[in-house]
Amino acid sequence: MRDQGLDRIAQGYRAFAAETVEESPAYVALAAAVADDRDVLRFLAGLPVGKRHPTLFFATVRFLGGVPADGAELHDRVLTDGDRFRSTMLARATQTNEPARCAALLPALATIGGPLALVEVGTSAGLCLYPDRYSYEFDGRPVGSRGPVHLRCATSGPVPVPAALPDVVARIGIDLDPLDVTDAGDMRWLRALVWPGPAEAARLQRLDAAAAIAAQDPPTLLAGDLLERLPDALALVPEGAVPVVLHTAVLPYLAGPHRGAFIERVRELPVRWIAQEGAGMVPGTGEPYPGGWGPYFVLSLDGRPLAHTAPHGGRVDWFSG
Ligand SMILES: C[S@@+](CC[C@H](N)C(=O)[O-])C[C@H]1O[C@@H](n2cnc3c(N)ncnc32)[C@H](O)[C@@H]1O
Repeated sequence: MRDQGLDRIAQGYRAFAAETVEESPAYVALAAAVADDRDVLRFLAGLPVGKRHPTLFFATVRFLGGVPADGAELHDRVLTDGDRFRSTMLARATQTNEPARCAALLPALATIGGPLALVEVGTSAGLCLYPDRYSYEFDGRPVGSRGPVHLRCATSGPVPVPAALPDVVARIGIDLDPLDVTDAGDMRWLRALVWPGPAEAARLQRLDAAAAIAAQDPPTLLAGDLLERLPDALALVPEGAVPVVLHTAVLPYLAGPHRGAFIERVRELPVRWIAQEGAGMVPGTGEPYPGGWGPYFVLSLDGRPLAHTAPHGGRVDWFSG
């Protein structure tokens, strides 16, 4: 008799392989191999439901010994080193921190007058709290003097590309488990979360450069749930600064009622609110994709959709009107 639990996990890995084609041919092959490997599926089935996702599993594989050459190597490593795989997957979470998302946030930030106090929920290591320290090129049009984190962004529509960088006076982040860019283990984990593939080298270079910027002027990071810690974070906003609550690639991690409670809370607060999330995660931003992700994100300001954006920020398609 077939085990339906294993079949469900296999299905998830097949779906991941289908979604990952362009970004990571190596993970496509490994995910397909996992879907056909009953031993690896049994290992995954022994983990709590929320800990079986390919992104977490493959980051763990990479963290503990690099990207396997093929499914056979992956099989051997999981079977011989299962305890370490298990403890890493239980201790760590998907916390991919992509500073290039700031290119999508910048036009929304530019429409708010400063000085700005950024309060990022689901901040990971806080690398999206430095939009003023990176430089940009929107269709070749520069913003800021060229620096070590240089973000190129293609656009369509009437994007309000700013003439200058925003004035950020406070950087406050909340995360269930904030990562520390000065900690070698946390940096190794952040690097392991980057998928092998055509964009990998540029992403790793950007991650390291952004981490060096953050290390020189660390953000204030609060540990805990975003809804619970929001009042503590807002209490740190300096007098005279405009509080901007922002988040990117976070809402799919919250169960529906939790997400609803967070959105209701932010709407009531005297803050500006920028979200860059999968369609429909913020009400009124489209039909949600299964699982909350999708091929594009929607950038919204105070709940009003402004643009479709590439999930990693390399493209902004601003809505007319
Ligand atoms: C995919 S990462 C995105 C990180 C960052 N926003 C970015 O775009 O680069 C999602 C982050 O949300 C955090 N997170 C998930 N649920 C959370 C919650 N209930 N409260 C606070 N942080 C949460 C995770 O720990 C993780 O660091």
